[in-house]
Amino acid sequence: MVRKVTLALASLALAAAFTSSSVMAKQVVIKFSHVVAENTPKGQMANKFKELVAEKLADKVVVEVYPNSQLFGDNKVLEAMLLGDVQMAAPALSKFERYTKAVQLYDLPFLFKDMAAVDKFQSSEEGQNMLSSMKKKGLIGLGYLHNGLKQLSSSQPLRVPADANGLKFRIMASDVLAAQFQAVNAVPLKKPFSEVFTLLQTKAIDGQENTWSNIYSKKFYEVQPYITESNHGLLDYMVVTSAEFWMDLDDGLRSEIKALLDESIAFGNQVALKKSEEDKQKIIESKRSEILTLTPEERAQWVEVMKPVWKEFEDEVGKDLIDAAYNSNM
Ligand code: SIN
Repeated sequence: MVRKVTLALASLALAAAFTSSSVMAKQVVIKFSHVVAENTPKGQMANKFKELVAEKLADKVVVEVYPNSQLFGDNKVLEAMLLGDVQMAAPALSKFERYTKAVQLYDLPFLFKDMAAVDKFQSSEEGQNMLSSMKKKGLIGLGYLHNGLKQLSSSQPLRVPADANGLKFRIMASDVLAAQFQAVNAVPLKKPFSEVFTLLQTKAIDGQENTWSNIYSKKFYEVQPYITESNHGLLDYMVVTSAEFWMDLDDGLRSEIKALLDESIAFGNQVALKKSEEDKQKIIESKRSEILTLTPEERAQWVEVMKPVWKEFEDEVGKDLIDAAYNSNM
């Protein structure tokens, strides 16, 4: 009798262990890797996604967020995604050059006058088609996420293009951004985001371009005495996943995850708008960096010198796409 009860209990324990391990085995793990701080639009969007998934899909999916280049730097994350080591990321659009030439569009200087124009273009057919432009390479764009317009920070005051002559600027891995700095006779250096602060602090470079929230959260303003409010370019992201991972999900679950991701992106875009103003203000209040406002004449000089870059990349990007993006300003 005792033996029978023991056997029954043992098989019950075995069944429970089997059930829980099969549930565990079914749980989808989404590693979300990014390079920025948690108090940025992307950092907050990723954390929101994690929270929403934990709230609504806890038994089926878990999101792990790795900020500050903890898991992968921006030069490795897409390769890692194709190898299945990370399932989601939101690299800056400038970092997709190796996978699609069309996305270089977003780096063209002075293309968008404000974020409303960016929204208008991205929700158009052309903008939406770009999300699937890397499918053959194994990557699927799930949506755009904003940060904002970029400013120029430097060790010297930059009012007109001639002030940048001979200075070394860190750029993201983008040939368009290289051409943009070459147009003002500066020296562009492609470096990962994780190295920028040290490069500035040690004066290995003279300047960089970035948004208010990145300049603030990564403390670039503490080691750059001048920031020119140029709004000359866009820093925007594409939330991406690997086609293999995404298409392997059950249809229903894929739609549920996508809905939560869309909600997180909408939240991140609101944070981006708010932070752009707030973080600029915090930098002003810190008095660590002087903010230079350009006169219309000074700004016109930057536009005149940098805008020929559009023509240089017209064949690779496509004139129709450039026209469509430019028309979103109207
Ligand atoms: C980011 O916002 O993801 C990084 C931007 C940069 O590399 O400058």
